[in-house]
Amino acid sequence: MATRKKSAKAAPNKARVEVRDAAKSQGDAHSGSQHNGTIAPAKGKLGVMIPGMGAVATTFVAGVEAIRKGLAKPIGSLTQMGTVRLGKRTDGRSPKIKEFVPLAGLDDLVFTGWDIFKDNMYEAASHAGVLDQRLLDQLKPFLSSVKPRSAVFDHNYVKKIDGPNVKKGKTKMDLAEQLRDDIRDFKKTSGATRLITMWCGSTESYIEATEAHQSLKSFEKALRENDEMIAPSMIYAYASLMEGVPFANGAPNLTVDLPVMLELSRQNEAPICGKDFKTGQTLMKTVLAPAFKARLLGLSGWYSTNILGNRDGEVLDDPGSFKTKEESKLGVLEHILQPALYPDLYGNIFHKVRINYYPPRGDNKEGWDNIDIFGWLGYPMQIKVDFLCRDSILAAPIVLDLVLFLDLAKRSSELRGLGIQEWLSFYFKSPMSAPGLYPEHDLFIQSMKLKNTLRHLKGESLITHLGLEYYD
Ligand SMILES: NC(=O)c1ccc[n+]([C@@H]2O[C@H](COP(=O)([O-])OP(=O)(O)OC[C@H]3O[C@@H](n4cnc5c(N)ncnc54)[C@H](O)[C@@H]3O)[C@@H](O)[C@H]2O)c1
Repeated sequence: MATRKKSAKAAPNKARVEVRDAAKSQGDAHSGSQHNGTIAPAKGKLGVMIPGMGAVATTFVAGVEAIRKGLAKPIGSLTQMGTVRLGKRTDGRSPKIKEFVPLAGLDDLVFTGWDIFKDNMYEAASHAGVLDQRLLDQLKPFLSSVKPRSAVFDHNYVKKIDGPNVKKGKTKMDLAEQLRDDIRDFKKTSGATRLITMWCGSTESYIEATEAHQSLKSFEKALRENDEMIAPSMIYAYASLMEGVPFANGAPNLTVDLPVMLELSRQNEAPICGKDFKTGQTLMKTVLAPAFKARLLGLSGWYSTNILGNRDGEVLDDPGSFKTKEESKLGVLEHILQPALYPDLYGNIFHKVRINYYPPRGDNKEGWDNIDIFGWLGYPMQIKVDFLCRDSILAAPIVLDLVLFLDLAKRSSELRGLGIQEWLSFYFKSPMSAPGLYPEHDLFIQSMKLKNTLRHLKGESLITHLGLEYYD
């Protein structure tokens, strides 16, 4: 068990944590991050529960198994391949992240899932068509053993799909109870010592928070009364958090981004994070926009369009689901560029995002960006980005990292009671943050925040990149 050098009371909210950390950071590497609490060791199996066994989920699970068998490498995963610099640049200490903090090993992961279709993971992965069939055949016995539990689903929230493997219940509370039974059953039958829920289900129709989402009391009343503002993903989130299980949301649905879920998360010490995996186009946006801002280059327009042919693309062809995704994608520029601070540069931006369902491409999305920028004396310039990416190949390592880091958060006495894990913003298009605090979208700030959180947990110096001490 890793113990901390000094003990202090757990910070009541993120904002205060940031202020405290900033005050302690004094150099390229300052000496000693004070910290409190302990991190329990990653002993035993970690159960990964996935609502939505589609392209992303199967690419993740098949990938983990392929890596365990030595058939492939975990490219794109920070927890598996990343390092963290410790101390001064001259110290030469850059351990692998998985050796620096106690993370679950890949061999300890066990899986279950829920889906409206009855396909097991082998069949679902073959249907998704992301991974080579020859690779899937090598993994067939394992993938076939992961079968979907019946889902909590309502066609009204995902208009483009329907399926037979769905739970029945008089009220949404009954459905939540059935999910809680599933969770307990999986824990028992798998022998897992810890669990994580990772939403990889379809994007649901756009919903705004209402009275029903404001407190545990009003949410439970709404569950019993079948309130239509409670979407299926919220029922999974409620069931998980009630069982004390951390929940990550890979889709743009509100799901855990609600006052009731924050309350439940803190009360039951089940960390939450979301929303919407930052994979292709938005990843590029959160790299380029910070560069324009750093160099004070103006922006007049950013037109983003995509063609996508997988089931996710089909679901997003429905205006209700697209609106949820659009909201998630649009917030990025506003938060990075801060037009109120820089009205001459970013006060009048035309930002448009389109997603077009185009079956021939399958999971291989093509995302185009036309960016109109302006420089010295207002002279215009253009940048074109054409990213021929693979959606689920980009998403799978994110899922792995979130699973392992959320489990770390649950085992950390300092992180587990905080609710939102803002240090995991790095992985999301629309990161959750404390009420009243604007989210950080800049990929490099997110990366620094994540690594400094790991240093902080282990009592290592935070790194500020000041570095004056090298020139004393
Ligand atoms: N792949 C990416 O790059 C990426 C990036 C950001 C977000 N996402 C989001 O991740 C999610 C998964 O993407 P995907 O490509 O795997 O989609 P997919 O359509 O292949 O898989 C989603 C699965 O969820 C199931 N499902 C829907 N509602 C459910 C419910 N209530 N309970 C259980 N199962 C349910 C569907 O039947 C389907 O099998 C989507 O919401 C997508 O928008 C994906």
